[in-house]
Amino acid sequence: MGVSMGTARAWIERWERQQERYAVDREERFTVIADVVEHVTAGRARPLLLDLGCGPGSLAARLAARFPHAEIVAADMDPLLLELGRTHHADAARYVDTVIGEEGWTRALGLRRPLDAALSTTALHYLPEPALLRTYRSVASLLRPGGVLVNGDHFTPDATPCADLTAHVGRRRAERSGGRAPEDWRSWWDAAARDPELADLLDERSRRQATRAGCGGDGQITASRHAELLRRAGFAHVAPVWQFGDSTVLVAIMGETHGLPAPVRT
Ligand SMILES: C[S@@+](CC[C@H](N)C(=O)[O-])C[C@H]1O[C@@H](n2cnc3c(N)ncnc32)[C@H](O)[C@@H]1O
Repeated sequence: MGVSMGTARAWIERWERQQERYAVDREERFTVIADVVEHVTAGRARPLLLDLGCGPGSLAARLAARFPHAEIVAADMDPLLLELGRTHHADAARYVDTVIGEEGWTRALGLRRPLDAALSTTALHYLPEPALLRTYRSVASLLRPGGVLVNGDHFTPDATPCADLTAHVGRRRAERSGGRAPEDWRSWWDAAARDPELADLLDERSRRQATRAGCGGDGQITASRHAELLRRAGFAHVAPVWQFGDSTVLVAIMGETHGLPAPVRT
């Protein structure tokens, strides 16, 4: 079920444009995430990084370009997007097919040493809260002391009068940096469905989706709720380091002594 280099490149280029619709200043957000990685991994010979919900390897490829000495593991459950990444960004990462947040999902990662950082872009909003908390707990157990989880996503705004202002600032910023991408998520997938080279992978994707019906997230978790869940999962410090509109980079740091403060079980 492979795809040719040319096909993978074309669909990933189109993916990159489509995703700009959902992340205000997406490229800058990738750069900010890499800045965090740079700070956390300074002086480490071969940092170990995990990209959660990697899609076709967009973040992994940028990290690999900036940190060629890093080992990068990229996890996703979508067979088509994984195949595009494996083909076009083959050297960027080791791609792993797993459903993040499901019982035992970390076993598939095949990690042999603690992570320095787990990163994610535009992906964790798919997880319903129980799966998100499980994910945060399992990532906390995989990170070294002082390691970080970095989540760049569009977070649901808190229900305050500031929410309108946040949305306005995001819209203005998007306009200044070229406006909204013309293609959206749905039309990207509709177009992919018309490419015969992708037919087998799309069949596999549909088979999996049919068995997972009803498992999607509600997308209604605010950044402050994420912070609460991260602390509950054992992260010692949580703070946003960058934001435009609802596009935010949230960083959670493990304490230097692993396991402290103790995770609060619910
Ligand atoms: C909008 S895409 C973002 C992909 C990439 N990180 C980027 O920034 O372009 C969200 C990705 O998260 C993946 N995803 C969502 N929930 C997942 C889960 N529970 N396990 C694994 N992957 C998941 C989807 O398959 C999809 O590839």
